[in-house]
Amino acid sequence: MIRKAVIPAAGLGTRFLPATKAVPKELLPVVDKPAVQYVVEEAVRAGLEDILMITGRDKGALEDHFDRSPQLERILECKGDVTKLAAVRQASELADLHYLRQGEPLGLGHAVLMAEKHIDNEPFAVLLGDDLIDEREDLLARMIEAQAISGGSVVALMEVDPEQISAYGCAAVDVVPGQDYVRITGMVEKPEQECAPSNLAVIGRYVLHPEIFAELSRTKPGRGCEIQLTDALQSLAVAGSTGNGVFGVIYNGRRFDTGDKFSYIKAVVTIALERDDFGRELRKWMQEIVDISEFSGPSYMSGNSPFSNSGVFASKEASPYG
Ligand code: UTP
Repeated sequence: MIRKAVIPAAGLGTRFLPATKAVPKELLPVVDKPAVQYVVEEAVRAGLEDILMITGRDKGALEDHFDRSPQLERILECKGDVTKLAAVRQASELADLHYLRQGEPLGLGHAVLMAEKHIDNEPFAVLLGDDLIDEREDLLARMIEAQAISGGSVVALMEVDPEQISAYGCAAVDVVPGQDYVRITGMVEKPEQECAPSNLAVIGRYVLHPEIFAELSRTKPGRGCEIQLTDALQSLAVAGSTGNGVFGVIYNGRRFDTGDKFSYIKAVVTIALERDDFGRELRKWMQEIVDISEFSGPSYMSGNSPFSNSGVFASKEASPYG
């Protein structure tokens, strides 16, 4: 049975600068909850309550978020704000969280290797702290089952448009008859489209056999001079490897990479649209701004705008901002 999860969250988040200069990208809010809290909640739903977060320099706020906050709790208690109090407490009661600092961001593979002592020779899950999987899906449970049946390491795969594959690790696969997973015969990190063995991209969920640690400690820095988890998995996947093999579970659901600006915006909008408290209002407002920006041309900036207090939304009642 798999009990432990590792959440690597020590990357520099350079795609999101300058926002991530002082704030870890994993703490950027997706509506009113940081991205990494969705990830911790997903691990807990899959029965993984021992979670090791790999953090780094300037990432102390990650620990603070999941810690108790007695002063804030007292103030909310005095105000009788039970909803906010419950939300604040919930973050600190989710799981048994542990932290380890990666002294230098030497790559995802290096971050996973830091977890070796904590994991102690049992299969474990890795969830990237900026990768959001639809909470209605059971991807992690499917991967845990695939690991138990196959006995190897399991990665999550997702079909992407061929021109996008160079942003991902990519896998060549063979069908495994009668199973919910495929066998991976080769992996390559961020290949050029012409050299990619498939359009199956590795996304931020893994269930790994502990043999990955020995492999990672042999893995030399690869793409971007970083120790790549994909390179270690490739060594375990190829024919002739003495390891237990690498397998893939194909995911067709919704997924956002909140470390990427456009995907982050899609995550915020999609999740906000589903909220009971303001989803309907947001949908209405979005329909209005899309209509106006398509049809009003340059005058959009000079009056007829949902962002101004003049023009079509001059009165408070008419304004989608309320
Ligand atoms: P990314 O490549 O998405 O993260 O790494 P990054 O390096 O922070 O992003 P950019 O490209 O500069 O914007 C995938 C995951 O691995 C973690 C990241 O935090 C992210 O969850 N990671 C990466 C580490 O924990 N340590 C590292 O040295 C590198």
